[in-house]
Amino acid sequence: MDNSETSASVSEIDLKRIEKALESTPTVAYTAPHDYPHGAPMFQSSPCAERERVDADQMRLYIHIPFCNYACSFCCYAKRVGANVEQKTRYVQALKKELEWVEPGTPLSQFFMGGGTPTALPPELLDEVLEAIVSRMPYSGDGVHTVETSPESITGEHLRVLKNRDVGRVSMGIQSMQEEVLDTVRRGHGQETALDACQEIIDAGFILNIDLMYGLPGQEEDTFYRDFELAARQGVHAVTAYNLRLNEYTAVARTIDEHDRFDLARLVRWRRFVCATANEFGYTQTRWHTFKKMDSIAARHQRLPVSGEDLRGYQLGIGMSARSSLGHVVYRNHKGLNTYMERVESGQSPVEEQITLREDDLKTQYIARTLGDGNSLSFDDYEATFGTPFTADFRDTLQRLQYAGLVEDDSRGMSLTNTGKLVYDLVTLSFYPEHAKQWLLERMPDYQLLEGAAQTAQMTTH
Ligand SMILES: C[S@@+](CC[C@H](N)C(=O)[O-])C[C@H]1O[C@@H](n2cnc3c(N)ncnc32)[C@H](O)[C@@H]1O
Ligand code: SF4
Repeated sequence: MDNSETSASVSEIDLKRIEKALESTPTVAYTAPHDYPHGAPMFQSSPCAERERVDADQMRLYIHIPFCNYACSFCCYAKRVGANVEQKTRYVQALKKELEWVEPGTPLSQFFMGGGTPTALPPELLDEVLEAIVSRMPYSGDGVHTVETSPESITGEHLRVLKNRDVGRVSMGIQSMQEEVLDTVRRGHGQETALDACQEIIDAGFILNIDLMYGLPGQEEDTFYRDFELAARQGVHAVTAYNLRLNEYTAVARTIDEHDRFDLARLVRWRRFVCATANEFGYTQTRWHTFKKMDSIAARHQRLPVSGEDLRGYQLGIGMSARSSLGHVVYRNHKGLNTYMERVESGQSPVEEQITLREDDLKTQYIARTLGDGNSLSFDDYEATFGTPFTADFRDTLQRLQYAGLVEDDSRGMSLTNTGKLVYDLVTLSFYPEHAKQWLLERMPDYQLLEGAAQTAQMTTH
């Protein structure tokens, strides 16, 4: 997804037109909307449902480690702060037991261990989980495995464990390098700890991705620029830059100033700035919000898809709140730490909710992934996959988005324009099926991302 021409070729972005094109879509930011169906998590309660076994040559694995050393004011991930070693040990035993669901010897294409903060586990416990994975699921192919971390939790011993278990990529949350911003959002580390941790991870030979955020309270473009500059100087291989998503359960949503909230103009301005900054430091936008140094080892990492060509999922998610995508069903484990552990310990399924994807959901998922990965969507491939022409399914949406300059198409396919790439997630919302839009409208009135955007006319380049 190369957006390097954005600032050169777009001299004026017509926000009124974009807003009009997107107006029939719910403008919520429940979760990153390009990640469907999680952007509209229409789960049905299904306590202890057994997960369908899929016939797959290889599986992907997601492992959720909920422990954190502090609670950031913006974070709505399933996490637990202040757990002691006994609780962490018990959780690791539950993970190992849940992993027994997998047939021994099933090849593993790629795993992602996220959270929470996996390195909030002591190194021995982290190793115990990894050992359980490799002894049950032999690594196959050349997928690069990732473990998430935070600057103050990662130690040399953690890195040795990860190296020994063939983890290739570490993704570290930093969010900001400015002490005032870090304090405001209640991070438990400062700039120096973050930069030292980057150095240690790079020196140990891992691909290093860091997460930065924009739109945090008190954050300005020039401070974000300095964050990026520091990361680039440190030799960070990839940067994932997230705009702040406000979730009603977070402290920041209750305290953020009105003028710090995103409207369309502010979101577009920030994203253009982020792209320009990343390009200036030699990073290329590869997908969604990720920028990579393509001349570094980061080029080796590719996130393997959750589902195959047949659109059937083959990802198992283990741990509290983890999601599995198996066949055409998405399952979510119970979000409570104790309930999760009790269920697994007593031999029950930890699943709490599920969604069965219908054909219109699969279409949205297909479009979201294709565009999100920076690819153009081939009309022939779409028709071959779903048996109906793309234009028969989405003629009106396509016309609206074209009119607003967000997508371009020729007789063969459709792709995002450079302006479209700035609002890739909102464009994806336009392709949501009616039942998902309805679900969002009914439940998420407080998440109006475009709030206030109506007053905005045109935005000129600066
Ligand atoms: C599980 S955390 C990463 C690892 C580690 N827990 C940490 O924060 O250092 C995943 C990432 O999600 C992003 N994130 C969390 N809450 C967010 C929000 N409300 N809006 C946007 N991004 C968010 C942050 O960039 C964070 O680094
Ligand atoms: S952003 Fe990371 S460290 Fe902060 S609370 Fe969320 S998961 Fe924990």
